[in-house]
Amino acid sequence: MFNPYKSKGFYGDPSLDTWKTILGDEMIYSVTRWLADNLIHFENVSTALSVGCGWGGIERKILSNYSNIKIDGITNVESQVEFINSFNDPNFIATVYDANKFTTNNYYDLIYFSESVSHLSDTAITNLSKNTNKFLLVDWFSHDRNCIKINEWDLYIRTKDYYKSLFNSIGFNVRFETISSPAIYDNQLITDHWLKGIQALPESERSLRQIVALEKMCEDFKNRVVNKDGSYTADKKSTIPYSINNGKDLDKPKNVLSSCVIFAEKKYK
Ligand SMILES: C[S@@+](CC[C@H](N)C(=O)[O-])C[C@H]1O[C@@H](n2cnc3c(N)ncnc32)[C@H](O)[C@@H]1O
Repeated sequence: MFNPYKSKGFYGDPSLDTWKTILGDEMIYSVTRWLADNLIHFENVSTALSVGCGWGGIERKILSNYSNIKIDGITNVESQVEFINSFNDPNFIATVYDANKFTTNNYYDLIYFSESVSHLSDTAITNLSKNTNKFLLVDWFSHDRNCIKINEWDLYIRTKDYYKSLFNSIGFNVRFETISSPAIYDNQLITDHWLKGIQALPESERSLRQIVALEKMCEDFKNRVVNKDGSYTADKKSTIPYSINNGKDLDKPKNVLSSCVIFAEKKYK
């Protein structure tokens, strides 16, 4: 287990309008698009918990297909909760919690982390092992380091093997599905789409530390090579300083990222 860097509202400081400009009307982040295209995974679900639910964009999509599901969302950002609950949908209620410390007595047919788990410590998963038989995680993964820490984004990107042993240790089997080029939207990298939004922001918003970091990440993606299997390799021009979990900077950002889905099912139900 590693100690995660505690996020201080990375998503919270930029305003709702800023995120709307960057993310567009759907208000979902990058690999979440895979979930939007695979809503079938919610077909036999009556109750679900979304950990790190953001602005609730994916939940509104899920509920427009499967209107009977009751979804609880948790996020550490108050403005996201206010935004979600302003829709007054009794089937989707969000609450502010730090997912790293969150526990509940509720049982859920499905607990999912859509592009949130890389912000969270292992406890966000292990604390919930008694609350479901099924987890679904969609996120970025590292191929060559057990945990890559990206300070600016408060991210801990783990390998598939790391997740495999984590889930096995709490009695779950895992299955992976690699997502091929999930970050393409309208024939453009999602990050190019975001970059346009960032460039349209007033200077006061554009200079926020989070937006500066996001802009850098979008630029960095231009320097990534998309491999045949959908993974991304940073080339020499990549600028984001990566460090592994012992804090030492890598001499160059050579890690290979890819995005994939983890399905975890309890071994003995
Ligand atoms: C990239 S966004 C993904 C949002 C949404 N699930 C989606 O797919 O569009 C990551 C989310 O994780 C949330 N998050 C980060 N750290 C958290 C924590 N410690 N506790 C709860 N939520 C957290 C952020 O506030 C944000 O809503």
